[in-house]
Amino acid sequence: MLSEKMNDALNVQANRELYSSYLYLSMSYHFESVNMKGFAHWMRLQAGEELVHTMKMLDYVAGKGGKARMLAVEAPRFTWDSPLQAFQHVWDHERVVTGLIKTLVKVAEEELDEETTEFLQWYIKEQVEEEESSDSVLSKVKAAGNDKGALEAADRLLGQRSFRFPRGFEIFPK
Ligand code: FEO
Repeated sequence: MLSEKMNDALNVQANRELYSSYLYLSMSYHFESVNMKGFAHWMRLQAGEELVHTMKMLDYVAGKGGKARMLAVEAPRFTWDSPLQAFQHVWDHERVVTGLIKTLVKVAEEELDEETTEFLQWYIKEQVEEEESSDSVLSKVKAAGNDKGALEAADRLLGQRSFRFPRGFEIFPK
């Protein structure tokens, strides 16, 4: 059984994961609007991943007999000046999320909740991957600078990204 404090903290984090999905979906439609289809595709898949993170956390809460609550989702911004600005935003955002997950682990430890501490290790590992992948794209975009050809090449590369939704989370394939 989850403590009330743990239940609330997990619901708040699920909300931040859903906000991440919303933010990346906003970036995806922004890139669609400026005809950068590869960047848009990458962001769309990222939005899907974040929805999986949201549901995995809420499934855990519900599976422990807790209360999965849908909290209000903040509206993200909807335009960026350049791919560099957008991917800098992704990188900064993921660093913030990593900090939030670490704080959540501390709450689980303080609550002497070993099962939740263990459950959150998946998110710790996932954040390492998320930071690596956003850093890798950010480096490419930085290297491209204002070179139109290099940005188009980066756009084509990102358009090749694939992601398989885990079993039980098969949602909005395109
Ligand atoms: Fe689920 Fe990118 O944090």
